[in-house]
Amino acid sequence: MTSRETITCKAAVAWEAKAPVSIETIEVAPPGPNEVRVKVVATGVCHTDAYTLSGQDSEGVFPVVLGHEGAGVVESIGENVSHVAPGDHVIMAYIPECGHCKFCKSTKTNLCSTIRATQGKGLMPDGTVRFSCKGKKLFHYMGTSTFAEYTVVADISVVKIRDDAPLDKVCLLACGITTGIGAVRKSCKVEAGSSVAVFGLGGVGLSVIQGAKIAGASTIYAVDVNPGKFDIAKQMGATHFVNPKAHSEPIQKVLVGMTDGGFDYTFECIGRTDTMRAALEACHKGWGESCIIGVAGAGQEISTRPFQLVTGRVWRGSAFGGYKSRSELPTLIDEYLKGEVKIDELITKTYPLDKTNDAFDDMHSGKNIRGVVLY
Ligand code: APR
Ligand code: ZN
Ligand code: ZN
Repeated sequence: MTSRETITCKAAVAWEAKAPVSIETIEVAPPGPNEVRVKVVATGVCHTDAYTLSGQDSEGVFPVVLGHEGAGVVESIGENVSHVAPGDHVIMAYIPECGHCKFCKSTKTNLCSTIRATQGKGLMPDGTVRFSCKGKKLFHYMGTSTFAEYTVVADISVVKIRDDAPLDKVCLLACGITTGIGAVRKSCKVEAGSSVAVFGLGGVGLSVIQGAKIAGASTIYAVDVNPGKFDIAKQMGATHFVNPKAHSEPIQKVLVGMTDGGFDYTFECIGRTDTMRAALEACHKGWGESCIIGVAGAGQEISTRPFQLVTGRVWRGSAFGGYKSRSELPTLIDEYLKGEVKIDELITKTYPLDKTNDAFDDMHSGKNIRGVVLY
């Protein structure tokens, strides 16, 4: 069923950087060929949205509809769309899966690059946009733009999911939770019995902890300068808790001393280059692996002494937890519905669309693990 109708609906529009989003009535054009229009039901609010809104994102373009942790229901489809139909429940994925490119064909990566060039410029794959407001065109964001009641996305960005998965919860699998769990299981392939340290206990770090617990890690150190995060870290499976501020020595030295030489695996879930270095240097000589998940500011660089790597430590990174979106996310949803993966515990608060700025404020103040906007 194709639609030729433009939909008028509400959206949180970011007119410019360094300003709050503004709740507006926008027009959403029908989906073109290989595109899908989705009625968004719920969306998480993430640091990446805030990062772009802050003006630091070198790819940031304005005015734009932000948002990338969304789930919803297909409203209509364009020509040539075969894998979803109106009424299907879906998650919008900022890493699509075309199934044909060299990245999709590789078992080693999830970084499908088919629409990367246009997605990074805030455009649909044909180089145009589907949103307008007050006569002005609005850019898309991360191929998802979930801060609107309706959005249009490329068909390869749409993950069909089972109907009984609660959209107001599984929307969070579109970003941080999948990123954390996947870094452990898919990127690092943490073995049972391993020792693990997690730097940063936000939604991402807490999901690394739950991934490490599922993998059967024997010890899971939770490291954060905010000891208020230790309770929830314990709930997710952490066994030891370290506040770097409580120590005068560099945190890597403290951790190596506490663990007879360091960890089998460490994960940086903050986005700071100094903690990236600390995480690498907290790895055990000979085999320890450190995974960078946090996103550092544009232009920043990491450093360590090369001897750290010569003596057997490995430095790697992970995006979206290495999960291939369309083919692999549905299994994570199955695990959530079986009670094996936790999402509900990470949702601190929900908001209506017109309180999207409050969700940003609560995230910045550190109150929220995750805030979810419900439409
Ligand atoms: N040492 C230890 N912990 C720190 C430090 C530090 N120097 N600085 C900040 N933290 C802690 C904060 O107290 C907070 O609990 O790191 C945690 C980060 O959590 P959030 O801000 O909620 O971030 P999250 O959503 O988990 O994302 C983490 O991953 O996707 C990326 O862009 C995202 O870079 C960010 C990272
Ligand atoms: Zn995100
Ligand atoms: Zn691909």
